[in-house]
Amino acid sequence: MEILFVENDVEGGKKAFEILKKGIENGAKVLGLATGSTPETLYQEIVKSDLQLTNLTSINLDEYVGLGEEDTQSYHYFMNDRLFNKKPFKQNYLPNGKASDLEEECKRYDEVIADHPIDIQILGIGQNAHIGFNEPGTDFDVTTTVVNLTESTINANKRYFDSIEEVPSQALSMGIGSIMKSKKLILMAYGEEKAEAIKNMIEGSVTKDVPASVLQNHNDVVVIIDKDAASKLSKKK
Ligand code: GLP
Repeated sequence: MEILFVENDVEGGKKAFEILKKGIENGAKVLGLATGSTPETLYQEIVKSDLQLTNLTSINLDEYVGLGEEDTQSYHYFMNDRLFNKKPFKQNYLPNGKASDLEEECKRYDEVIADHPIDIQILGIGQNAHIGFNEPGTDFDVTTTVVNLTESTINANKRYFDSIEEVPSQALSMGIGSIMKSKKLILMAYGEEKAEAIKNMIEGSVTKDVPASVLQNHNDVVVIIDKDAASKLSKKK
């Protein structure tokens, strides 16, 4: 893992943008994208750049079950709002949270991923070290699944909803097996609430209890963290 220490999320977004831009210049055609507050500064950098994405395909990590493109809390809405409406891609894929048959939707999404191998995957990390919505205990070889969200994740994400009761209890998530097949991974984390997860991911053992620890087994991972997220690491530079 290559670890880049940054001052804050603005500098982190700029660093991630430079890496992404270089990757695209070197031929990356499929971007794996993430939601949450963490990648926002990266998307802002992309939007204000002159980077053209019209030859690129995007594949998002996850979506809440029951929410669609028109729901303002859906990840689909978030991506349209922050990036896709401002920087059009050739194609954008997200799991369909409103699919009537969720198991079929998981299969469809696995086919999308198989047809478009991901060159660069953007990742945030949950406070319990989940990646995508792959919660602690998830097998490392899993593909797209319907996930029951943990209390920790529901609590962390309730800020986007009017009340905790409105946070969906399930999501569709690309699996860890698919994330690990991406050629390059860029994981960003900011703030002290991520410090424990970052320490366990980088310095702990590789275990299903810490989903992000699997990234230790990938040969091209860049981790971008600010001082607060790095605060529990034994080596801080
Ligand atoms: C959600 C998303 C993850 C994201 C995590 C952290 O659970 N499914 O992909 O990494 O939240 O979110 P944030 O960046 O807002 O802290």
